[in-house]
Amino acid sequence: MKRALVMMPAALIWAGVAFAGAPPKLPAGFGPLPEQPPIPKDNPMTKEKIELGKMLFFEPALSKSGHISCNSCHNLASWGVDHQKTSIGHRWQRGPRNAPTVFNAAFWSRQFWDGRAKDLEEQSKGPPVNPKEMAFASPKEVIKRLRALGYEPYFERVFGKGGLTYDNMAKAIAAFERTLLTPNSLFDRFARGEADLPPAAKRGMKKVVEIGCTNCHNGPLFTNNEFMPFYYGDDPGRKAITGKEEDDHVFRVASWRNVAMTAPYFHDGSVKTLEEAVRIMARVQLGVELSDRDVADIVAFLKTLTGEPPKVEVPRLPRPAGVAPDYRD
Ligand code: HEC
Ligand code: HEC
Repeated sequence: MKRALVMMPAALIWAGVAFAGAPPKLPAGFGPLPEQPPIPKDNPMTKEKIELGKMLFFEPALSKSGHISCNSCHNLASWGVDHQKTSIGHRWQRGPRNAPTVFNAAFWSRQFWDGRAKDLEEQSKGPPVNPKEMAFASPKEVIKRLRALGYEPYFERVFGKGGLTYDNMAKAIAAFERTLLTPNSLFDRFARGEADLPPAAKRGMKKVVEIGCTNCHNGPLFTNNEFMPFYYGDDPGRKAITGKEEDDHVFRVASWRNVAMTAPYFHDGSVKTLEEAVRIMARVQLGVELSDRDVADIVAFLKTLTGEPPKVEVPRLPRPAGVAPDYRD
C-alpha cells in the first residue's frame, strides 16, 4: 500500500482521491455502515411519507407551547443532538437525560438509553405527550392541533382516508428518521480500501480490540446493540422499566459512529470531552487505566467514525391561516 502511494503523482495524493489499496484486514466484525437499516413490513418507506415525517420532525406546533420541535433537541444541522447536558423542554424544564443522536438510530435494537421503546415508531409517540418535553395532555390533543393546522390532506395522501392518526404520525416520523444515515466515514472508506487511516487512528483501532472495548462496541455499528451494566452515576437505567435487580445501571451500548460530534457524553451528559469519556469507560468497564497516548490514539480512531451527515432540505410547514400560530398556555 505504501509503495502505491509513493508512485502516485503528488497532485493526486493531495487531492485525496488517489488512495487505491486493497481492502485492509480489519479486526473481526468491523466494517462499513450498512446501506439500509431494517425497515418494518408495516411501515414501508415512500417519498410522500418521508416528506410528511420531515415536516412533523421540524414542526414546532407538535409541542403544546408551539416552540419546541423534535429538531430543537435533535438538531439535524448539528449531528442530531442539542449538545446540552440534559435536554430543555416545556417551560424550560430540564429532563433527566442527555439527548442521543437521531442519526443512524434506525439501526438500534431498541430506542432510548434504557431501551424502553421497541422501535422508532413507538419512540416518536413519546415526546409530544411527555410533560417535560412537548407537553400535550393526550394524543387526541396532538391530532386536534395537526388538523387545525391543515395536516389532514398530507396524512390522507400517504395513509388514505381517515389517515390523520397518532399512529400514522409516528410512522411518518419513523420513516423520515430511517433516512438519517451517515455513510462514508474515513473508517468506512478505509474498510473499503479507498483511503488510509492516520497512524494514531490505526494504533487506536488496535488498542480498542486489545483491551476489550470491542466486547461491547463491535460490528459495523460499533455497538453490539445489547444492554450492559455501566456503574456510573445514580440513574438505575433499565431497572426502572423491568423492575429487575439484574437490570440495575444497565443501558444500551452506545454506538461509536459520529461520537466525536455529539458531546457531551453518557446518559446523564456529565462528561464534556471524548478523552474523558474514553478514560472513564476503560476504568469502569474494563478496570484499565489508559495512558495519555492510548487515550489520544483511541480518540483519533473514534474520530474516523464521523460520517457524512444526511442532506436535509428544510420543509415548508402548512400554515393555512397565513399567520404564525400563537399558542398560549
Ligand atoms: C425536549 C427535548 C426533546 C424533544 C423535544 C425530543 N426529544 Fe428525542 N430524546 C430526547 C432525550 C433526552 C432522549 C433520551 C431519553 C431517554 O433515553 O430516556 C431522546 C431520545 C430519542 C430517540 C432515541 C435515540 C436512541 O439512541 O435511543 C429518538 C429516536 C428520538 N429521541 C427522536 C425524537 C423525535 C422523533 C422527537 C419529536 C417527536 C423527539 N425525539 C423530541 C430529547 C428530546
Ligand atoms: C461492558 C460493555 C462495554 C465496554 C467493555 C465498553 N463500553 Fe463504552 N459504553 C457501554 C455502554 C453501556 C455505554 C452507554 C453508557 C451510558 O449509558 O451512559 C457506553 C458508552 C460509551 C461512550 C459514550 C457514548 C455517548 O454517546 O455518550 C464511549 C465514548 C465509549 N462507550 C467508549 C468506550 C471505549 C473507548 C471502551 C474501551 C476502553 C468502551 N467504551 C468499553 C458499554 C461498554
